Amino acid sequence: MTKVQARQRIAKLREEIDRYRYAYHVLDQSLISDAAQDSLKHELEQLEQEYPDLVTPGSPSQRVGGAPRPEFATAEHASRMLSLVDVFTEDEFRAWADRVSKRAEASLDFFVEPKQDGLALSLVYERGVLVRAATRGDGRVGEDVTANVKTIEAVPLHLADAATIRRHRAALAPALRLLGDWEAMVAQAHRGRLEIRGETFIGKRAFAAVNAAAEKTSGKQYANPRNLAAGSIRQLDSTVTARRRLSFFAYALIGIDCATHEQEHALANVLGVPVNPLSNRCDAVGDVLRYYERLGAQRKKLDYEIDGIVVNVNSRVAFTELGVLGKAPRGAIAFKWPGEEATTTVEAIRVQVGRTGTLTPVAILAPVNVGGVTVTHATLHNADQIRRLDVRVGDTVIVHRAGDVIPEVMSVLTNLRPTRTKSYRFPSHCPICGSAVEKRRVGTKTGQSAAYFCANPGCYARQRERILHCTRRGGYDIDGIGEKTVDKFLELGLLTDPASLWELHAEDIAQLEGFGQTSAENLVRAIAARKTVALDRFVLSLGIPQVGEETSRALAVAMTQESSGRAPLTPRDVLRWLDAQTLDTLQEIPDIGPTVAGAILAWVRVRDNRTMIERLHDVGVTIAASRPLHAASEKFAGKTFVFTGELAVMTREDAEALVRTHGGKAASSVSKHTDYVIAGERAGSKLRQAEQLGVLVIDEQQFLRMVQ
Ligand code: IVH
Repeated sequence: MTKVQARQRIAKLREEIDRYRYAYHVLDQSLISDAAQDSLKHELEQLEQEYPDLVTPGSPSQRVGGAPRPEFATAEHASRMLSLVDVFTEDEFRAWADRVSKRAEASLDFFVEPKQDGLALSLVYERGVLVRAATRGDGRVGEDVTANVKTIEAVPLHLADAATIRRHRAALAPALRLLGDWEAMVAQAHRGRLEIRGETFIGKRAFAAVNAAAEKTSGKQYANPRNLAAGSIRQLDSTVTARRRLSFFAYALIGIDCATHEQEHALANVLGVPVNPLSNRCDAVGDVLRYYERLGAQRKKLDYEIDGIVVNVNSRVAFTELGVLGKAPRGAIAFKWPGEEATTTVEAIRVQVGRTGTLTPVAILAPVNVGGVTVTHATLHNADQIRRLDVRVGDTVIVHRAGDVIPEVMSVLTNLRPTRTKSYRFPSHCPICGSAVEKRRVGTKTGQSAAYFCANPGCYARQRERILHCTRRGGYDIDGIGEKTVDKFLELGLLTDPASLWELHAEDIAQLEGFGQTSAENLVRAIAARKTVALDRFVLSLGIPQVGEETSRALAVAMTQESSGRAPLTPRDVLRWLDAQTLDTLQEIPDIGPTVAGAILAWVRVRDNRTMIERLHDVGVTIAASRPLHAASEKFAGKTFVFTGELAVMTREDAEALVRTHGGKAASSVSKHTDYVIAGERAGSKLRQAEQLGVLVIDEQQFLRMVQ
């Protein structure tokens, strides 16, 4: 993205985020989910990080909380109540951990705690007595909500003193051990002013109870526990707050010197302020990641909502020295679980043909993490849906993914639409076979809707065949992808044409039944390893009618000769060469008569066939020289070769052919007659046998040097 584009995008994002905020806080309307809003804010923050000079004081990214309500007295904070930067992926988290370790010039340990989804509170104790409770407000000035907070049982009205603590010494033993000279610290806490910051929230069960009661009396429901907690704290009548059964966990102490964040927690705890018991110290980044995973798996079972973890640099000295950037401390970060919704942009809309001929539009998306999975495709269901959403290429959309259901485009944020976009027009002809498309009305769960069909019964088969053709031995020879897999991927819209093979993402596949992370990664790797293909195989895999193996070779030879021995190295070169042919020139090629020549020319004229080649070019498929037709030399005469493992440059079949054209023999198993074993990646038992038998083992590069 250029700076000019970034500037425009930033302006639009700010406007949109402000609009949602206004609707939510002033008009009481929730226009968009929290997750989708977070996703937009995240994009804004990323852009602002990339172009820091585009940050303005009025940007929503610079905001902390909201302005105080006039009904409450204002409460000024002794030090600014900050916010946290959010990250959603392991990579982003690691980047943060690297950054802080580098800056602090030390290897750091961390203190991690659940990120409570509630409302931040500041509690001020003077000589151990609660004198003021305030909301965060804009970070500098909040609302004085002391009367309401005093109804929350979890918040002590006065701090525990040394005598009380001593009485519970057994139960508090771990915390006291951690504090060391705890008596001095407790004394300090009682001496002057101590501020405790934390989160007030309402449990899921309490929330359900309040909502049930509200439903009966007013018919109104609260959207989520956080809204209810915020509403309850800002009640003018404290007896209402009292009935809401709010809870509280502390996360920071201000005005007392602890060596670590862990100690701060322990001290708050012994002073009688609850801290989340699931908090933990982590020695290394790996431990934090495991904690994040573990808590993520158990969060649904907790009685309160958490939307991530907060990771703090444990050492207070390092934390303070790291300082503050904008609204957030550098030494802490919110590592959130991605919501089931996120925003992203539409890069293309493609149509896929189902088994029954139904045409299903699929949005190809800029990769986005939805619910912990990278999503690159989302269904648009049908033409009606496209029309209803008016989704266009370039649009910012909300994508929803629940469980292992296919992700779908829920809505379009039209305010973020770039200029000069066009309404999507559903193709009038099938993109696979070119037949006219038929419109039919079909029944769906929600009533009738229009669906488009390709009337050609062979169409799905053709699309499928085209892809399978590529995966087979005569084509790109891709291991681990068979008919079943291709069918499944076609159905889900993960595959639409041969080029889409190289656009598969392990994350998309890993979610499917029958796959796991490892098998998905292996498949994607196997496909990636086959991005280079011999010219004759490239031609063959295009699936031109009448063009089989022999004709493909003949065409490849002709192409190579005409480009003065240099093989046309890109798919686009092949297209150009085909375009330059006539019935006459094609018939000059051995083996090609008028029928085949005609079939080739007709094929090249079909737009979708051209697109297929262009797409192969765009995804980076490259073409290697054709395999020679005749023996090139006798240099391997009398020698036997065995290939094992995955080769990087050639297919195994090509490598074996190469051995043969140089007069050698290619065998499939290792014996004492074997002269060379060529071991690729992940070579297995054959490599071990070779080693046992003392056969010479070389790698692919060495083999290629021998050939040359
Ligand atoms: S530490 C510098 N710890 O998340 C701000 N915050 O997005 C100190 N929150 O304003 C935050 N649980 O209201 C911290 N265990 C936790 C938290 C937590 C919830 C909230 C807090 C903060 C917001 C930042």
